[in-house]
Amino acid sequence: MAMSAVVTTHPPRSSVDTPSSDGEALARIRDLRVRYAQDAPVVLDGVDLDLFAGETVALLGSSGSGKSTLMKAITGFAPIESGTVLASGFDVAHLKRGELRRLRSHVGQVFQQFNLIGRLSALTNVLTGALYGAGPVNMLGTFRSADRRRALELLDRVGIAHKAGEEARSLSGGQQQRVAIARALMQNPRVILADEPVASLDPRMSRTVLELLQSIAREEGIPVLVSLHVLPLALAHSDRIVGLRHGEIVVSGRTAELDAEKLGCVYDIEEEEDED
Ligand SMILES: Nc1ncnc2c1ncn2[C@@H]1O[C@H](COP(=O)(O)OP(=O)(O)OP(=O)(O)O)[C@@H](O)[C@H]1O
Ligand SMILES: [Mg+2]
Repeated sequence: MAMSAVVTTHPPRSSVDTPSSDGEALARIRDLRVRYAQDAPVVLDGVDLDLFAGETVALLGSSGSGKSTLMKAITGFAPIESGTVLASGFDVAHLKRGELRRLRSHVGQVFQQFNLIGRLSALTNVLTGALYGAGPVNMLGTFRSADRRRALELLDRVGIAHKAGEEARSLSGGQQQRVAIARALMQNPRVILADEPVASLDPRMSRTVLELLQSIAREEGIPVLVSLHVLPLALAHSDRIVGLRHGEIVVSGRTAELDAEKLGCVYDIEEEEDED
């Protein structure tokens, strides 16, 4: 059994966490501070986060709270001012030559807008996941048959093998997002980062995609960090929840021990009312 849950609430503190499963963290973030320029505001401040095999961690926070930046810090796209980010064994703040590419090949990413190549088939889009870290290759038609078999298996895994030959742009949003998840899996990722993967999907498809991500985390043992704007979706489809507010973690705990009231501190109610 895992240790008992720690639920931290405001004032801000860390999410050096109660893992949902035992074992070593596949991503470990300590006291992370990010700002995009020397005279710009601090975007993440003192952030601690561990991601363990098999678990889905929902990342909540208002627009601008730093969710995407936290994901970018894991893939080396955000300027780390201080602190430590270890991802799949790489020290992201001090990458050596050639390591950035390898790091990114270890991290599967899923985005709100799917980011598929519209004129290519679903299958070829999935196959592009095999190109990460492969070095320069001929993109046109030189995928190994083993890769093609694996890509088809993955399309089957996400429930759309029957769409393999169709152009990505002809698929529905939910189908495209499942292709994108299969593409991420094609990388054999150590970690999956999903930045608002259901923000463009209807409620039913949102649930389907989040269930899929959580089952992948469990069955493949890959941690999934997923940012969400809809609190009930986070409560229904994660093992842990981390809430960011103005770049700091204000709540962190096991989902089973959280509810809308405990997560209220994530959102700046007054600001949101002002916007209306
Ligand atoms: N490339 C960048 N250069 C400068 N500032 C940036 C950059 N990217 C993000 N920021 C700033 O960092 C802060 C956090 O942005 P971020 O995109 O991480 O928020 P978010 O929580 O993902 O928001 P949203 O819910 O709207 O996607 C914002 O103030 C934003 O303006
Ligand atoms: Mg964002």
